[in-house]
Amino acid sequence: PETGCLSIIVLGASGDLAKKKTFPALFNLYRQGFLPAEEVHIFGYARTKISDEELRNRIRGFLVDNKAASSKYSDDVLKFLELIKYVSGSYDTEDGFRRLDKEISEHEISKNSHEGSSRRLFYLALPPSVYPSVCKMIRNCCMNKSDLGGWTRIVVEKPFGRDLESAEKLSTQIGELFDEPQIYRIDHYLGKELVQNLLVLRFANRFFLPLWNRDNIHNVQIVFREDFGTDGRGGYFDEYGIIRDIIQNHLLQVFCLVAMEKPVSLKPEHIRDEKVKVLQSVLPITDEEVVLGQYEGYRDDPTVPDNSNTPTFATMVLRIHNERWEGVPFILKAGKALNSRKAEIRVQFKDVPGDIFKCKKQGRNEFVIRLQPSEAMYMKLTVKQPGLDMSTVQSELDLSYRQRYQGVVIPEAYERLILDTYISFLFI
Ligand code: BG6
Repeated sequence: PETGCLSIIVLGASGDLAKKKTFPALFNLYRQGFLPAEEVHIFGYARTKISDEELRNRIRGFLVDNKAASSKYSDDVLKFLELIKYVSGSYDTEDGFRRLDKEISEHEISKNSHEGSSRRLFYLALPPSVYPSVCKMIRNCCMNKSDLGGWTRIVVEKPFGRDLESAEKLSTQIGELFDEPQIYRIDHYLGKELVQNLLVLRFANRFFLPLWNRDNIHNVQIVFREDFGTDGRGGYFDEYGIIRDIIQNHLLQVFCLVAMEKPVSLKPEHIRDEKVKVLQSVLPITDEEVVLGQYEGYRDDPTVPDNSNTPTFATMVLRIHNERWEGVPFILKAGKALNSRKAEIRVQFKDVPGDIFKCKKQGRNEFVIRLQPSEAMYMKLTVKQPGLDMSTVQSELDLSYRQRYQGVVIPEAYERLILDTYISFLFI
């Protein structure tokens, strides 16, 4: 692995994403030894004028140390917070970024007195409207200058524009400033344990190979439910809606992994190629196969306009025009403020032909992958009801992670993703 100083710069440090996801993920990486204090420094940057200590106070409560006594912050939390410095400035003028660069450089000089390259990772926990100007400022003021090597990288997240035109524009704007290998577009669903498992499951198991097609599968459902509403994020949400917030990004990534052909290898380009192919085989979605909704009370959120028509629920059918999937509906469903919180993939199999048990009333074979909560995979199958009777019943082959992998801590999605932006793991 690369050594030398690593500076992680969280832009939008005073915002919600940074506080709830980015800093806690960095903390967990730190605790597991993936951010060694001798090499790493973390910078927060945002417009709010606060001190280092005020930023630390804001994020402290979100850093959970399971091992520590609940009432006190552990040593790990305190040491981690000491690694964080804050710089305030605007997103479209150079003076703030010059100050930021100065801070980073000073840190690099002190850490590099011995050896090593310098790596600068800019994490944009910001709305996409400011991506172009922020990228320009980074390019102009904050690039890695070490002669000893290293890199400058940027990490961006959805929503990446509003539609094809704005997404392409954004891509071009960023592409003019950074080379493709420097740009990390992340989707945190790809960091979830059971999403990461999809390739292994599909391509390392003989069980699934012959079954995973139109001859055997009746339909596939990819479902996201949340039991809370906009939760203070109405201003953001209302501009985008559930399709851009969840379906176009998270569910579509899951869809690709479920439906795509086997990639040539695990190289990112090979996986990308297969995702692109399956997406290109999806027929245009028809109006009759889309249902939209808005939960009651959505407009009570003061940050949502009274006449908002933004959907908070959507379901749609994707149809893939290829040899494997012709005729199999892929039903994508997402909703906020529903009665439970769950994300899962349900693969429903066709009925057994020439059934002699009248199984239909038991329900179909089904293979379920539950991404959250409580990661699990289970197969619903029909078995003989134990006892003297020759009747059938539906039962389950169940792989519940909590039971099967006791004591194993499943990393948070963001931990995995952030780690992948600065360390390359070879699949062994
Ligand atoms: C985010 C969306 O990308 O994902 C949020 O913007 C949503 O609206 C969140 O709540 C769900 O993530 P998770 O990991 O809690 O399922």
